[in-house]
Amino acid sequence: MEALQAVLDCRGLSTALTVLRVKQAASSGTAPDGPLHVLLGEHCRREEVSRALGDVADRVRYVGPPGEEPSALPQSDGPQHPPEDPWWKRRDLRYDRGRLHLGGVDMDQLARQVGTPAYVCRAGRVRENIERISAALAAAGLDHRIYYAIKANRSPALLSYLRTSGLCGVDVCSTGELTHALGCGFPPGMISFTGTSLSRHDIEVLARFTDLRVNFDSVSALDRFGRSCPGRDVGLRINPAVGVGYQGDERLSYSGAATTKFGIYREHLAEAKAVAEKWGLRVVRLHLHAGCGYLDGQLDQLEAALDAADAFTGELPDLAEVNIGGGLGVPHTPTDAPLDLERWAAAVARRFAGRGLTVAVEPGDYLVKDAGLLLTTATYVERRREVLFAGLDAGFNLAVEPAFYGLPCEPVPVVPRWEEGTETYTVVGNINEALDQWAVGHRMTRLREGDRVALINSGGYAASMRSDHCLRGEAGEVLLIDEQPPPAP
Ligand SMILES: Cc1ncc(COP(=O)(O)O)c(C=O)c1O
Repeated sequence: MEALQAVLDCRGLSTALTVLRVKQAASSGTAPDGPLHVLLGEHCRREEVSRALGDVADRVRYVGPPGEEPSALPQSDGPQHPPEDPWWKRRDLRYDRGRLHLGGVDMDQLARQVGTPAYVCRAGRVRENIERISAALAAAGLDHRIYYAIKANRSPALLSYLRTSGLCGVDVCSTGELTHALGCGFPPGMISFTGTSLSRHDIEVLARFTDLRVNFDSVSALDRFGRSCPGRDVGLRINPAVGVGYQGDERLSYSGAATTKFGIYREHLAEAKAVAEKWGLRVVRLHLHAGCGYLDGQLDQLEAALDAADAFTGELPDLAEVNIGGGLGVPHTPTDAPLDLERWAAAVARRFAGRGLTVAVEPGDYLVKDAGLLLTTATYVERRREVLFAGLDAGFNLAVEPAFYGLPCEPVPVVPRWEEGTETYTVVGNINEALDQWAVGHRMTRLREGDRVALINSGGYAASMRSDHCLRGEAGEVLLIDEQPPPAP
């Protein structure tokens, strides 16, 4: 039996270009000696192409008469029907009759309506993610609070939805985010503030809100705040000197082996306490955030960070709350397993349950990342040397994490051409920077110019970190609000 082979789709090409394409494929090494299945355009004649191909003609198998739709073709290198479920498939994110749906909404149709690029986020998924964390903490016997870290996605529509849901407060890290959260309806008492490198102006703004839960990450900021607001309750962001991050990546670790700017180290706690005492500040919260994107494989490190944080608690007699930060990760690749929340909550409970403490958690990514995708359109498909490039109308500036942190947003065809088989693409964006690549050597069903491609896991740190680099920062934003979760498949 012949090895399954890709079909070279030459429809739309002249005879000369068809010959060139076939010759390139013959010498590319992707099918060293095997047959080359070729689909000709309606203006090409087989005899002419074969003559021009010379020796290569012996390897060519023409599929379908010119003009015939590829669905009538014999077997290509890919499946004729949807393959097994993609690793990211969920009840609310899946192919339905061959078209990608998020929350029951047809993404191709939506792209047609709103244009691309466009960020699409499903509010119901965010809600489910919050509820899952809350249920795990409650089951572990923890009195808890959830503050959504709005740096991950500050869409006013999403924040208003969350405010109305009443499921969580918010974590903000700047006075700009504070004003934004207030504007979206969160009262100061539902806002946790943990900023860094605070200016005098920042402190003046914070001083205006007596109910705001502020955690200071340096002795100097604490001192400045105490001078203008003596007698207040405050939180201390500490540095556990143990970091954690997606697959152990140091770039995502906030408090690892290297000394970082985040929080007060154990050896400076006495200094911080003295400053608090000088201004009559009561330290009622302990805060840490050890890093981002951790999954089960990093839970040991998280536990070490929690142990290190616990070592501070004995010296802070007024503590009422321990805020363990965010950092809970979501799968980015087929080999990533979802975080086991039961295990995670048990690890937290082993340290802090039954001590009269509230445990606060401030996830960003976990709540929003897998709730969103970035809808794009393929601008070209072209082979350069041995590499088949697919260009999108969205560059890395619309979702920087793949380029900056190696956290992929996998490109997924919105209406896959299953019947045409698969190809290996390097998927790139429209920014003039060498790092503007969405995926390298990425196997997906055949793409053509104008096809829609969704970049999954774009709900977190995409829209909120985008820039207008090359003046290509424009993108629509859609929040899908569904009252009923989609039915089970
Ligand atoms: C202090 C603090 N809290 C929470 C978060 C949210 O982190 P994540 O989105 O990884 O959950 C961050 C992110 O950097 C942070 O710095």
